[in-house]
Amino acid sequence: MARLRVVGSEKDSAAERVDARIAADEDRGLLRFLTCGSVDDGKSTLIGRLLYDSALVYEDQLKSAERDSKRANAGRNEIDLSLLVDGLQAEREQGITIDVAYRYFSTPRRKFIVADTPGHVQYTRNMATGASNCEFAVLLIDARQGVLNQTRRHACILSLLGIKKVALAINKMDLVDFDQATFEEIAEAFSEFAQPLGFELITAIPVSALKGDNVTSPSANMHWYRGPTLLGHLETVDLSHDTQERPFRFPVQWVNRPDQNFRGYAGTVASGTVRPGDEVIIHPSGRRVHVARIVTADGDLEIARQGDAVTITFAEEVDASRGDVISGIEEQPQVADQIAARLVWFDEEPMLPGRSYTLKCGGQTTTATISALKYKINVDNLDHVAGKTLELNEAGECNLSTGKPIVFDPYAENTDTGSIILIDRCTNATVAAGMIEFGLRRATSIQWQELFVDKGARAQLKGQKPCVLWFTGLSGSGKSTIANTLEKRLHALGRHTYMLDGDNIRHGLSKDLGFTDADRVENIRRVAEAAKLFVDAGLIVMVSFISPFRSERRMARELFGDGEFIEVYVDTPLEVCEARDPKGLYRKARAGLISNFTGIDSGYEPPERAELDLKTSETSPDALAESVLAELRRRHVV
Ligand code: ADX
Repeated sequence: MARLRVVGSEKDSAAERVDARIAADEDRGLLRFLTCGSVDDGKSTLIGRLLYDSALVYEDQLKSAERDSKRANAGRNEIDLSLLVDGLQAEREQGITIDVAYRYFSTPRRKFIVADTPGHVQYTRNMATGASNCEFAVLLIDARQGVLNQTRRHACILSLLGIKKVALAINKMDLVDFDQATFEEIAEAFSEFAQPLGFELITAIPVSALKGDNVTSPSANMHWYRGPTLLGHLETVDLSHDTQERPFRFPVQWVNRPDQNFRGYAGTVASGTVRPGDEVIIHPSGRRVHVARIVTADGDLEIARQGDAVTITFAEEVDASRGDVISGIEEQPQVADQIAARLVWFDEEPMLPGRSYTLKCGGQTTTATISALKYKINVDNLDHVAGKTLELNEAGECNLSTGKPIVFDPYAENTDTGSIILIDRCTNATVAAGMIEFGLRRATSIQWQELFVDKGARAQLKGQKPCVLWFTGLSGSGKSTIANTLEKRLHALGRHTYMLDGDNIRHGLSKDLGFTDADRVENIRRVAEAAKLFVDAGLIVMVSFISPFRSERRMARELFGDGEFIEVYVDTPLEVCEARDPKGLYRKARAGLISNFTGIDSGYEPPERAELDLKTSETSPDALAESVLAELRRRHVV
């Protein structure tokens, strides 16, 4: 039996550090794998068995597992191995954000990191988090149940996440009398199903995690099986790529500048190798420089390899910053602000094309919108399905447009520089993980055309300061009435104005849109872009749209310069709007004749920091228009 040694047992963020440490002090292979299976397939028992059989369980964890299982089994003298792992899970459930626990062990042949991904509601998030760090997966199947829907789904997600090699641990063989035919049927059924998923290797192994058969030592109960034990397979499976051969990538995590004389760039080598004297390129600037030193706490290195956490200094004076990516001069990463990526959606709130999210790719942070959802991917069979949004646990093929160009590699070539996450800008929750496929040609083929006459020149001719007054509020709140009155006043004062009104725009530019959240996001994106053009034309623009979501109003605000965007909250309580009901729409909505009606069965998020707050139940529209005019005077717009 192989002797194993525990290297550590940590979670998540610490994983990278340990990962780097393991890789740094070792040349022999490191296998990072994740385990997945349905709830009762025995995943925890299997991981526990891998650790326990090899006498590598921490003493204290063992003791507490023994204690707990004695309590649980009341008298039976058997240790419940799953408690070794589930104990950690309980701890994780006390609010640690990503539910993936990493365990570390090694045999004389290889080192291992196991990502244990619990399979409850947020399973895609857990699997995606685990898989982006893994090159191999152990998929568990209960021999009594065979291939279940959940097995198929997990296999599809693994394939989506780019995992190429899987071991199929057909577990609980003791409960089917170690029957060869049962094993073979399941293995065959799975490989037939998995054929289109593009796995390079599927190895089926009959095991009993509970009894220990074929986990770390060959089973005496299954002489018909001649293949490796699970551990034997993990120790010998070919790693998908020779990591040292891949092109050099070094995302800069931070700039190390303790004093005037030293400036180094700290990070972890994502792939390839680098030596002092090498010519390298800093992206996105494209600046070419030479590596002077590779500094570590234990002295300088002659070579840095994948996983090494180092600080690199350059022979030339340059200014690189956090988020930059350093590569060799051949096989450079791509730089684009339009990318195609597969997204796996984690959030209860669905993905909305057109909404602005924060995108992180390595150390780079920028904004991003999904410009198109090309299709959804059914995670049960990888079929393509038409759709407008992605809901919790759904996956899809998207085009994204980023606020500034990002440096990346396709995920298939480099999982570190090819993965992205999206973050909700209001809640700060991680809402999706993505695998970049390629940069869109549009990104390079469409350039900005500089114009001779600019906004300043147009505004000067009109003798005014262009701006947008963004009226938001419920239907019937009085937005259009006030905006209309204001435009009349401005016009009389000789100002050049334009009015973008929700109802009118929906007759033309937004004719194709309804009132779902996704359609409203797109509606506001269009009108915000249109307003920007009118402001660029030098006009004072009134926008009168319900614009119910903070995210999109913020997106609109960010399109404009300082002081150009004036948010006007037409603050009328729902009861008042409903009592007014100028178009009879509230009555219809209450009668169930219109759906997704704002305030009834669709939400409205009031502004938190509007420049103006107009209380229409207390003051007349004329007086309110006058107060907006006063604000414009105060701002020297008129
Ligand atoms: S927004 O939410 O996308 O900003 P917008 O301002 O364009 O909405 O359109 C709102 C107008 O459409 C309302 O004033 C009302 O006249 C009409 N309308 C029809 N159906 C709905 C609905 N389901 N919800 C809100 N407004 C509706």
